Amino acid sequence: MKIFNTLAMFGILLTTGAGAQTTLKDACKNDFLIGAALNESEFTGQNSNAVAIIKTQFNTISPENVLKWESVHPRSGEFDFTAADRYVEFGEKNKMFIIGHNLIWHNQTPRWVFQDDQGNPLGRDALLARMREHIFTVVGRYKGKINGWDVVNEAVNEDGTLRESQWKKIIGEDYLLKAYQFAQEADPAAELYYNDFSLENLPKQNGAIALVKKLQAQGVPVAAVGLQGHYKMDWPTTNQVDETITAFSKLGIKVMITELDMDLLPAPTRNQGAEVAMNFALQAKLNPYTNGLPDAVQQKLAQRYADLFSVFVQHRDSISRVTFWGVTDADSWLNNWPVKGRTAYPLLFGRDYKPKSTFAAVIGVVHQ
Ligand code: XIL
Repeated sequence: MKIFNTLAMFGILLTTGAGAQTTLKDACKNDFLIGAALNESEFTGQNSNAVAIIKTQFNTISPENVLKWESVHPRSGEFDFTAADRYVEFGEKNKMFIIGHNLIWHNQTPRWVFQDDQGNPLGRDALLARMREHIFTVVGRYKGKINGWDVVNEAVNEDGTLRESQWKKIIGEDYLLKAYQFAQEADPAAELYYNDFSLENLPKQNGAIALVKKLQAQGVPVAAVGLQGHYKMDWPTTNQVDETITAFSKLGIKVMITELDMDLLPAPTRNQGAEVAMNFALQAKLNPYTNGLPDAVQQKLAQRYADLFSVFVQHRDSISRVTFWGVTDADSWLNNWPVKGRTAYPLLFGRDYKPKSTFAAVIGVVHQ
């Protein structure tokens, strides 16, 4: 952190021998893969400024929305892979480590999934059959192309118990085991992940640890846990992040930071989580930086990124990947969550497609 302060103070630009600016993927190459979640305008090439950043800076990609159930399987018996195919092609063409996000979740999953043709709740066997068909079709299509899958997303409550999702209600606790078994069968070579937010909070962390241990005891080769990393300026502490990474790596699995961003806007609620269903009314006091971020705040943000990446680097043997949830501040979901229409500043690249001081902060601590 001292190094970062010195660099920032003198405004030093980190350069390679050739004079070009150091890239994230070069700077992180001895530590972990570094990536971003992409939206459709990015992997189709339409947003060429963003594409330039993605190709230069990142070596792994995640699909922000196009592989979710509602996108690839909107109606019973009907799959639509138009966008997902383009996402995977983009990753292959650029030789990137391609993530699949996600197979089983309680959000962005259409209601019909849990109902029969008459709209009545489905029974266990019928829902299991539907789950199997979905996983076999989606994972099977990208077998050997998508390198790792978020098989189940967000199955644990804040208190560590299992979330009462429709999956759990209808199938029972073993919906988790079934999902992982189907994914493994559909592509035995793909890495299988468990992904969730707020795993830095102890009760939830303990619930997720119990979940992973149970899957391991049942013979599921869980490759890694994903800490989503939807962080605030004061939560979690670097100590909490440090201890969380240690706790999961003790299970013999890798740790990934899968959806990193930093929310510095005023919180409309005390809830630290990332429940996508939250939606609060826009008020001026919740949106203070519509004309840019004051220098003092920008510096705090850069320092926060430096502090976090110092922890990640210390754990480089346990961490396989760090992925940002978006490329530039303009395309971050935090402009619309948990309040629609705000101006957010959570990432390393600005609305002008230029690296921000958060970029220099990260490079400063990872570059050995
Ligand atoms: C978000 C997307 O960024 C939004 O575009 C979408 O409207 C809602 O979902 N946790 C996850 C991600 O696992 O899939 C969510 O992505 C953010 C929280």
